[in-house]
Amino acid sequence: MTELHVLPGDLLPPVDPPRRHLLSVGDLTRDDVDRLLATAGSFARSQQRDNKKLPTLRGRLVLNLFFESSTRTSSSFELAAKRLSADTLSVKAAGSSVEKGESLKDTALTLSAYDPDVIVIRHPQIGAPQLVAAVTDAHVVNAGDGKHQHPTQALLDLYAIREGVGRLEGLHVAVVGDVLHSRVARSLVQALRLVGARVTLVGPPPLVPRELGDVSHDIGAIADADVVYVLRMQRERMLEGANYVPSLREYTARWGVTPERLRPGQRVMHAGPMNRGVEIDPRVADSDAALVVDQVRAGLVVRMAVLYDLLTTGPVLVETAVEVA
Ligand code: CP
Repeated sequence: MTELHVLPGDLLPPVDPPRRHLLSVGDLTRDDVDRLLATAGSFARSQQRDNKKLPTLRGRLVLNLFFESSTRTSSSFELAAKRLSADTLSVKAAGSSVEKGESLKDTALTLSAYDPDVIVIRHPQIGAPQLVAAVTDAHVVNAGDGKHQHPTQALLDLYAIREGVGRLEGLHVAVVGDVLHSRVARSLVQALRLVGARVTLVGPPPLVPRELGDVSHDIGAIADADVVYVLRMQRERMLEGANYVPSLREYTARWGVTPERLRPGQRVMHAGPMNRGVEIDPRVADSDAALVVDQVRAGLVVRMAVLYDLLTTGPVLVETAVEVA
C-alpha cells in the first residue's frame, strides 16, 4: 500500500462538518484517537518546513477563553490556530468584564456575537465547557474544567508517548501523585485505556481514589512501568485544613520521583507546571528520560489536529503528497 504523506491543510477547503465538540475523552472513540494522532503527525511534518503556516482555516475564528491561568494550553491553542491561518481572539478573565461580575453565560453570548467557529475554554468550574456549548453555535473544546477533564492534554500525552516510546498498546504507565485533584490524570487514564495501555495509580491513599483503577501506595510500584507520569501537587485545589499528606517535605521523601526510584529505559512525563523538588526531582526533570518538552511540542500539533478535525470532516486520505503552492 502506498504510504500516505498528507498534510491535511493542503488538500481541501474545510466543508460543513457535523457539529461536534471535544468536552471529554469520553467523547472519543479509538478511531477518533487514531485519526487525531495521525493528523497531528501530518501537521508535525508541516512544522519542519521554513514556512510553517498552512491555509487550512483561513477566515475561521478561534476564540480562546481562559478563566484560569495557563502557559502551555493557551499558547499552543493560539499558535495552533495561527499556524492554520485562523483568526484568533484571546480573552482572559483578568482584565475582562468577568472581574465586574459578568456571568459565564453572558460572556459566552457576548463573544458569540463575533461568530467564532471554535471556542476553547478553560474554567475552574466543572461543566463550564458544557454550558458554553449549550449557548453558542461554535464548536467547543474543553481546555480544562476544574478537576474534571483536559482532553487535549490526554491526546498530546498519547502522541508524546507514541513518539517517545514507539507504541501505546500494551504499555504500562504509572501515574504518580495527586490523582484526586487532577483533570490530567482523569483524562489520561481514560485515554490510555482506550488505546489498550495499562495504568497503575501510585500515591498516598488520600490522593489516589480507588475507583479510578489499579492502585498502589508503594512508590516502588513505578519500577514496573514503561512510563512514569508525574502529577503536580495541586495545592490550589486542596481543601483548606484537609490533611492529604503530613507535609510537602514528607510527600517528597515518600513519593517524589527521583533518579534512585527509576530504572534505566523508563520515560518520565509531567504535564506542567512542575513543582521541582516536590513531586519531581530536578535531576529527573532535566534528564534524557524526561519527555516534558516533547509534550509541549506535541501540544501544538495535536491542537492543530483538534481544530482541523472539528472544522472539517476529518483527514482525507489521498495517495500522493500534496504540497502547498
Ligand atoms: N498542562 C497544562 O495544562 O499546562 P497549563 O496550565 O500551563 O496550560
